Amino acid sequence: MTATAGRDRASGTTARTLAQAKVNLFLRVLAREADGYHQLETLFCRLELGDDVAVRVGVGGRSLDCTGDTLPSPALGPMERNLAWRAAVSYADATGWPNDWAIEIVKRIPVGGGLGGGSADAGAVLRCLNRLAPSPLSDAELVALAAPLGADVPFLTTGDPLALGWGRGERLLALPPLPSRAVTLVCFPFGVPTPDAYRWLDGSKTVTPREARRLSIDALTTWDSVARLAHNDFEAVVAPRYPEIERVLDALRAGSARDRDQSAEAITLLAGSGATVFAVTSAPEEAMTMPHGTSVRFVHTRTASRVVAVGVSD
Ligand code: C5P
Repeated sequence: MTATAGRDRASGTTARTLAQAKVNLFLRVLAREADGYHQLETLFCRLELGDDVAVRVGVGGRSLDCTGDTLPSPALGPMERNLAWRAAVSYADATGWPNDWAIEIVKRIPVGGGLGGGSADAGAVLRCLNRLAPSPLSDAELVALAAPLGADVPFLTTGDPLALGWGRGERLLALPPLPSRAVTLVCFPFGVPTPDAYRWLDGSKTVTPREARRLSIDALTTWDSVARLAHNDFEAVVAPRYPEIERVLDALRAGSARDRDQSAEAITLLAGSGATVFAVTSAPEEAMTMPHGTSVRFVHTRTASRVVAVGVSD
């Protein structure tokens, strides 16, 4: 990680990619550490849904521009706290390059929904900068830089569509992608604050900290076997506090149980700590009967078979 002198080799060039969202096909929260953070055991899976992220260097200043119809811009908060911005600062602090950048993000991933949108943007910025850098970091160094930015950022900095994650999400084992499946996201007009969700788990009498399991990789190679492991510890503490979420989870599960053809592989879970609920299903939206009076937005996507590469242009 060395500083570069003189003119940026990559001056005036732009790197761009798709910052793909994630879901956790299982998510178990294990021990709480002394500093308050929790150990995780999770199966990360990327979606085709993503934000467009472009990073230009050699622009004589530092800027972040974020557009998209999924959010009112105040939802992004101050620029210095934006994860994509912090990722660029981390890269520059660690490597001494670049001095300046212009980050442009077009949001499509629902904000605050547990789909890793902000983390995917941060991962995309790290990948873009590393593609342009005069002395790129190794994959392992890039993941190490991602880890302090949040539990989802390391996975979303890799080029892997599917991976087991442990620790705080920085210990990763890449897995071969599962066959691409349709995914329906049921998005609410509110989010669930992640720190609160962890706090509720800490205070919960029903969820107790557990040890990591011995997992067979064979159990992660088909949708049927993954469906048997599908679970999210956050549901036990989030759903009772958000009756709309509980009702949607119940309704989707009742629907897939009725449809025998789908039941073998149906996975319906809270995404991360919520609020989005996702269903790995090809059932059309009309077949998903929402509880009366529930205000939701549907987003249709698929699980990703690959992670979109970073492209470079002048
Ligand atoms: O990783 P992320 O930035 O989304 O985490 C938000 C908050 O969730 C952290 O500040 C912490 O309170 C909690 N957290 C945790 N253990 C983790 C990840 C997050 O307690 N492994």
